[in-house]
Amino acid sequence: MRKMVIGGNWKMHLGTSEEANTMLNQLIPLVKEVKKVDIIIFPPFTALYSLSFLKNTNIKLGAQNMYFKDEGAFTGEISPQFLKPLGCDHVILGHSERRTIFKETDELINNKVKKALHSSLKPIVCIGENLEERKKGKTMDVIKFQFQNTFKGLSKEEMRNIIIAYEPIWAIGTGETATPEQAEEVHVSIRELLSKKYDKDTSEAVRIQYGGSIKPDNAKELFSQDNIDGGLVGGASLEAESFSKIIIAAQMISK
Ligand code: PGA
Repeated sequence: MRKMVIGGNWKMHLGTSEEANTMLNQLIPLVKEVKKVDIIIFPPFTALYSLSFLKNTNIKLGAQNMYFKDEGAFTGEISPQFLKPLGCDHVILGHSERRTIFKETDELINNKVKKALHSSLKPIVCIGENLEERKKGKTMDVIKFQFQNTFKGLSKEEMRNIIIAYEPIWAIGTGETATPEQAEEVHVSIRELLSKKYDKDTSEAVRIQYGGSIKPDNAKELFSQDNIDGGLVGGASLEAESFSKIIIAAQMISK
C-alpha cells in the first residue's frame, strides 16, 4: 500500500520568515490529526532556516531545487549539504519551470537526482508534456523520454526513494486541470515504464503524484484514482485553508 503524499510548492512566494511562519502557524492546527498522509512543504530557500520547528510536527520540509555538487565556485547555487542541517529531507527536481525558464536538461536533472539520493535527500522528480505535445498525441513519447533520461543509471533501491510527480505543463497555474482519467492514464503508463525497467514490485512501490491546478474541489476525484498517490500543489498551497482541505481530501481517501 502506498502512502499518500501531498507537497506544497510555494515557488517564489512566502519567502520571508514572517510570511512563512504566519502561513504555517495557521496550517499546523488544521492538519495536526492527519496521520495517513505525508505532508511536505517547499518554501523558498530564504525561509527554510526559520522553519526548523516543523520537526516537532507532522509537516516535513523540502527545498525547491539544489545543485549536484557539495561546494565550489557555483555562484547562486545551493548544495545538498546546506539543506540537510536545516531539516530538509526532500527536494523537488526537474520542475517544468526549471526546465523551461532556466533551461535545465534531463542530463543535469539526472545528476541532481543521483546527488540528492547520495545526500539522503528524497527527490520529487517532475515530468510532463506541454500543450503542443499533448495536442499532437506525443504525451507518452515525452514521458518515456524524460523517464529514461532523468532516471538513467538508478538502481531499483534508489528508484524506490524517489517520488515521481506527473505535471502536465498545460495544467500548471492555468486553472485547467487534467481530468482524473487523463491523469490516471499517464500514471498507469509510468507504472508500466517502471515495471519494464525494474520489476512489478518496484512499479507498485513508487509513489506517483499528480500536479497542475489541484484545488480543494478537484482533489478528491483526482486522488481517488488507483494510481494517483497524492499531489504536488502550487497556488492552492499558499493559503492554509485551501491547502489543508487538499490534505484532508487525501487523508479521507487513504485506506
Ligand atoms: P499549480 O502548480 O498547483 O499552481 O498549478 C503546481 C506545480 O507547479 O507544482
